[in-house]
Amino acid sequence: MNYADWLKRKGLEYKDKVLYFAGQSTLNLIKTYGTPIYVTNEQIIRERYRSLKELLSRVYMKNDIHYAVKANSNLSLLKILNSEGASFDCTSRGEIYICLKAGISSDKIIYTGNMFTDEDFTFAVKNNILVNLDSVSQLKRLVLVYDRLGKEKETISFRINPEFGAGHHKHTVTAGKDIKFGILEEQAVEAYRKAKESGFKRFGIHQHIGSGIINALDFANPVEKYISIVKKLIETLDIEFEFIDFGGGLGIPYRPDEEPLDLSDYEKYVVEPFVELLSKGGRSNITIKIEPGRFLVAESTILLTQINTIKNNGFKLFAGIDAGFNTLIRPVLYNSYHHIIPCDLKEKGNEFEYDIVGPICESGDVLGKERKLKELKEKDNLAILDTGAYGYVMSSPYNSRPRPAEILINENSIYEIRHAETLEDLINAQKVPEHLK
Ligand SMILES: Cc1ncc(COP(=O)(O)O)c(C=O)c1O
Repeated sequence: MNYADWLKRKGLEYKDKVLYFAGQSTLNLIKTYGTPIYVTNEQIIRERYRSLKELLSRVYMKNDIHYAVKANSNLSLLKILNSEGASFDCTSRGEIYICLKAGISSDKIIYTGNMFTDEDFTFAVKNNILVNLDSVSQLKRLVLVYDRLGKEKETISFRINPEFGAGHHKHTVTAGKDIKFGILEEQAVEAYRKAKESGFKRFGIHQHIGSGIINALDFANPVEKYISIVKKLIETLDIEFEFIDFGGGLGIPYRPDEEPLDLSDYEKYVVEPFVELLSKGGRSNITIKIEPGRFLVAESTILLTQINTIKNNGFKLFAGIDAGFNTLIRPVLYNSYHHIIPCDLKEKGNEFEYDIVGPICESGDVLGKERKLKELKEKDNLAILDTGAYGYVMSSPYNSRPRPAEILINENSIYEIRHAETLEDLINAQKVPEHLK
């Protein structure tokens, strides 16, 4: 894919040397809203959702796409995906709460937590949310909660750890014997037997092997192992699964030389083996589910920033911007690459190599290492791309810097979907004991 096309798939293009996003001049956005600011293009989210839905439905009609809310839990994004017909995957009570506030009905939510507390279970059961258990030991406590609340036990699911994982960084690989998630094959039969004996009537099964997988072949071994576990459960316990969920993890091209995930490969290595399993067993009433987060929202958003300091220490050039790892932590946490481009394209002048650094008082606060860009000046603006997933949701007020605003662009209209925090927000939740007043 050439560079212009790579930008275009993310809603970006240069017009008269100015960067436009979702049809809006980024310089005008900055003039109106300031920096740093997260800017989201609604249509990209809709396009990504539709492309996956179309793929799944072409191969197998009974499918649900559960958006992984952890990637970005902004109410407006949830409403966009809800209006497309998406379902949702939540990892916490907080995410469920936000989904319910966004008007999402409880039967569209799966609660894939881990290290669940009794309070988590109580919240889920009270709100009629399907719980996807992460350990056999949790079953007993969940049953007690159902009984205490006098609720009928309907559907239960377990997260399987198929032992083969993948991901863009070791922290995002979520399967393997030494990884905390899910239950291993040896315990799967016991888990479902106990669930049956406890009175659950319907069953689902789930896996999620990792995040940021750009080569669909990486799914092949885990899928094969997972399918063998599903078959074993069907044969041993005669379980009629209501759904089979094979998780998220679909990657996006963060680098200009990366090709997007090949959806026909995803179909071949992930979707088809399940469809084959279901059609062979005459089980076409089973729903297949996937749980993408990043794929649906990462490319929908850019982070606009301003350069405040150009420093040449005689050894290295630094471009200091007003967004740091408090605003976007992925580069520091996962050594992730985010492409960074100027809002104002300079065609003339020399290229220099910059470390693009934030204002946080730590030397690890580098958002882009050794980036070659045409000479940058103080007050120039930069766009950090692909920040819609694990961007704002992982931001913090570290160094007591308030979090930025978020805006949404849809068909020539611009909406503020979260206002920037203020200095007051930094102390609003705090209480000072009497003797210190
Ligand atoms: C259980 C579960 N499902 C889905 C996802 C979404 O992953 P991704 O954003 O890579 O699609 C995650 C993320 O780690 C997850 O833990």
